[in-house]
Order: sequence, then structure tokens, then C-alpha cells
Amino acid sequence: MAITELAKGVYWVGAIDWSIRNFHGYSTSQGSTYNAYLVVDEKITLIDCVKEPFFEEQVQRIREIIDPAKIDYLIVNHVEMDHSGALPQMMDLVKPEKLFCSPMGQKAIIDHFHRDDWPFAVVKSGEQLSLGKRAVQFLETRMLHWPDSMFTYLPDEKILFSSDAFGQHFASSERFDDEVNLPVVMEQCAKYYANILYPYSPLVQKLLQTVASLKLDIKTIAPDHGVIWRDKPNTIVEAYDTWSSGKCADKAVVIFNTMWHSTEKMAEAVMWGLADAGAQALLFDLDSSHRSDIMTEILRAKGVALGSSTINNNLLPDMAGFVSYMKGLKPFDKIGAAFGSFGWSGEAVGLLTAVMTDLRFALVDDAAIKHKYVPTRQTLDQCVALGKRLGEAIKKH
Ligand code: FEO
Repeated sequence: MAITELAKGVYWVGAIDWSIRNFHGYSTSQGSTYNAYLVVDEKITLIDCVKEPFFEEQVQRIREIIDPAKIDYLIVNHVEMDHSGALPQMMDLVKPEKLFCSPMGQKAIIDHFHRDDWPFAVVKSGEQLSLGKRAVQFLETRMLHWPDSMFTYLPDEKILFSSDAFGQHFASSERFDDEVNLPVVMEQCAKYYANILYPYSPLVQKLLQTVASLKLDIKTIAPDHGVIWRDKPNTIVEAYDTWSSGKCADKAVVIFNTMWHSTEKMAEAVMWGLADAGAQALLFDLDSSHRSDIMTEILRAKGVALGSSTINNNLLPDMAGFVSYMKGLKPFDKIGAAFGSFGWSGEAVGLLTAVMTDLRFALVDDAAIKHKYVPTRQTLDQCVALGKRLGEAIKKH
């Protein structure tokens, strides 16, 4: 196995998951990596573990560098199972002198693995730990994206081990941002932000301000997934600033779920109206589009139009699932509209409007259009007008 060195004595010892396609409901079409890092100093330190099935791969990478039994310290930046699943096996193999984690991390580790006998050493923001020639500093990042999350910073090498932040689900044989097709990776970063970090955008803004105020000199950002940012770390930091502050393009996303193509016809008419207003627009049929790809576009769009037929007094099931997922991710500062066909009761449009109201979307005037059975030319014209009003509102926003 090739050894990957970030700086002298600092190594990547993670694992590559080429096959994963579903990450708790998020489609990972390009796989992922579980990054972990080894710092070889007087106290040899392993930062993070990997998902349980990848334990042997991680151990093999460590063996290329040192005997794992020589590891003194383990640092757990975040307890989610994709980074701690292999922790019990690693603890048995390494028997470290200390296991460092945040205060919330200790609770989470015990709740996951029921081992309060491990040699916990709790660290808080600002604390330093000497490894010998070097020291590391800790920065708690609660709820980014777990209660226990923290960063570990290595000042001598100017490396920020950023846990899940600044990562992306992207499997590749290359490890660094200057070795890959960056636009492809940035698309995965946007998807990762939209589907994992979006609800915590206000905390991301605060974190960026905290990191700036601490004047941390950061040359390399080493996240727990995907490529390591050694060439253009500012690219991902600036993207996080854009996404977390809600800056969006003059764009709308039209999402529909149709039973007998009537709602589909209405969705297409809304698209025509958006085009008439000169707004960029994207159309997604929930029958053929994945919710996590749609959320990536919502992250970057000012407008959202939702359309569903009514079934049994409710939304069609794919739309019900989608709005449940979207509500959890808390998109903010959007302009919304709703439409849909029905047979006899027609609750779907009201339910969609309620979802957008809960999310504090600004609804365009007369934002909801519903039609019994197959839309007439007149109804389709109303849908065009709705799209046009949405497009004009987006352009003014
Ligand atoms: Fe990559 Fe929150 O785990």
C-alpha cells in the first residue's frame, strides 16, 4: 500500500469505500472515504478510526508506517459510526495510554460502546496536548454536525483536522485537492453540505468567524471524508461561507410527484413561466430523481415550487417523503409556490403550502393552484403565470 504523507510524520491512514451508495438516505453515487490520520512524534497519535468493516484496511495502512501497538494516543473528533465503528477493535489492538475526546464525546462513546473503563481524557476548546516535539490544539464544534464534534489543529504543520466539516463523499485513488478534477469534487461538496450541514448553517457562520478570530494559520484542511485540501483550502472555506449565508442564484427548482401526468403538465407550465421571467429553472420528477440531488439544487436556488397530486386526502408518497426530508434540512430564505391536480378532495396543495409556511418561505401572491382531474388550457395558463410571478420575485430578491 502506498503511504500518503501530509507533512513530515503526518500520514493519512483511512479507508476508501468505493461501493457505498446510500449514506443514511443520501445517495453517494461516487462512494466515499473514511479519513483518519497518524501523527508520529514522541507520543504516536491516531486521529479518528473508520467504519467497522474497514478496520483491517486502516490497520494495514498503519502497519506500513509503524507497529499499531506503538500508538500512544487516540483522538476521537466525532463519534458517528463511520468514524468510530472500528474503535472497539482499535482499542483492543492498540491499548492506548489515553483516548482524547470532547466532554460530549465521552458520553457519546460510552453510550455507543458501553465501555466506561477506557482511558478517557476529556479536552475542551483551547486546550493543548503535547505530543513531544509538536502539540495539538482542540476546538469544540458542537452540532457541526454532532453534539460531540471537535476539530484538532496541528500548528507546526498548519493542518486542521476538521472532522466531517469541509468533506465530501467522493472515493478516489487520489488524496489531495490538486490531484483531482476540482469542479467534480466541489459538486460533491455542495451535495454534502446540502444533505448534512444545511440545518446548522447559522453555526457554520459562527464557526467561520471563530476560526478567523483565532487567527489560526491553516495551510491544509484534512476532513474525515474525501480529498484533503492542501492546495486550495480557501476554496472550500469560501464555499461554506456562501452556502451557510444563503447566497443563491436567480434560480428555481420545480419538484413534482404526479399520478396520471396532470400535475406533471402543471409543473411544465410553471417552468415555462419561469423561463418567461428570465429565471434559471430545474425540473425534478420525484419518480426518477433522488431527494439528495434535489436538495443540492435547493441549496443554490432562491425559488422552490412543489407540485403533488392528492391521494387519500394526502400527498403522493414520494412527495410526502421528500418534504419530510427537506423540512429536516431546514432550507432558508426561499420563495415558494405550490400546485397540483386532484380527483375529489384536493388536500395536497394545502399540505405543500403548509410545509413551505413552516419553513418560513415567502410565498408568491396566489401561490397555490389546484385543478380537478386534467388541467385545462386556462389552468395551464395560470400555472405559467405562477411560474412567471415566482421568476420575477426571485429576480427582485
Ligand atoms: Fe462522517 Fe458524522 O460522520
